[in-house]
Amino acid sequence: MTLNRKSFVVAALAAAALVATAPQAFAQAGKIKVGLMLPYTGTFAALGNAIENGFRLYVTEQGGKLGGREIEFVKVDDESDPAKATDNVNKLIKRDNVDVLVGTVHSGVAMAMAKAAKDSGTMLIVPNAGADAVTGPFCASHIFRSSFSNWQPGYAMGEVVAKKGHKKVVTITWKYAAGDESVGGFKESFTKSGGQIVKELSLPFPGVEFQALLTEIASLKPDAVYTFFAGGGAVKFVKDYAAAGLKKSIPLYGAGFLTDGTLEAQGADADGLLTSLHYGDSLENAKDKSFRLAYAKAYKLQPDVYAVQGYDAAQMLGIGLAATKGDVKNKAAFAAALEKARIDSPRGAFTLGKNHNPVQDIYLRQVVGKENKVIGVASKNLSDPGRGCKM
Ligand code: PHB
Repeated sequence: MTLNRKSFVVAALAAAALVATAPQAFAQAGKIKVGLMLPYTGTFAALGNAIENGFRLYVTEQGGKLGGREIEFVKVDDESDPAKATDNVNKLIKRDNVDVLVGTVHSGVAMAMAKAAKDSGTMLIVPNAGADAVTGPFCASHIFRSSFSNWQPGYAMGEVVAKKGHKKVVTITWKYAAGDESVGGFKESFTKSGGQIVKELSLPFPGVEFQALLTEIASLKPDAVYTFFAGGGAVKFVKDYAAAGLKKSIPLYGAGFLTDGTLEAQGADADGLLTSLHYGDSLENAKDKSFRLAYAKAYKLQPDVYAVQGYDAAQMLGIGLAATKGDVKNKAAFAAALEKARIDSPRGAFTLGKNHNPVQDIYLRQVVGKENKVIGVASKNLSDPGRGCKM
């Protein structure tokens, strides 16, 4: 076949255009289906609702679209029940065919989600659960966390408690991944600084029969107590600790979940408590101020750490989708965008470590009235060690 000069030029231009567009992402059409797997019942129900509120707030601020695609939601109540977790996450992956999984609060449930996400290749953003394994052995290029690892607030608090001069500490928590790992982080830094853990007390999740354990603490007479409890269980623990007369004699320290989203219910029994967390009230940065105003206006509620983590999970999805023009299947470009992002969070800007866990300041907070007042930074720019993560 011979080409005249004009058709040759046209063909060459068409070929050049093809080469130029081939490696780029094509804008995707249709809705993105986000599967929210969160607790809407049980001791963590308020936490699940706050995460959803935060997530929806960001999407609404973006006009309902991320990366040019409208967001639609499918929801499952995971009841914070690890025994139902695999069935629940498979409903979202196989029945509903979601593009992205967002969940959850409970570490045991999150581990089942991470496994299913890893096996199926479905994108997952964890907006709370701190299970070290999610950004450890289960880490993957399409798995991200907008919150923390259980190790982080615990490790930061171990240093604080040692600096206060306490030598002998009793720990008390629920016996499951989050409790064990929070105590693990605390123990690591506290013992490195010369402290000693006299006894590790625990009860099954989500139990609240604290009485016998509080009696044991009274007889052990440690210098201080470190604890991880959250949600409804945290409310009861703080009240029971005060009612047992321990608040006056043995200082209580905790990962900040102990007093986040719980102060209305805890009242004066929480007054003065010191906790460590990646968020707090009175941060006063510009992003936090506008976030708190918008959240209060939308929901007639004050936001807490869970609302922030939900908001940031949506921001992270937005960053990945903007880079891929809405194509969740383009996992390499999605991950590359997040790996170099500075996420403009109400907690203060943060980045993601190699294992996709936030590298962030862990604040020291003190309960003053109905606020977790930030009184310092317990650990600056703390990254999770990502033990066991190979990516
Ligand atoms: C967890 O199970 O990882 C967990 C639950 C509630 C919190 C924090 C961590 O507030």
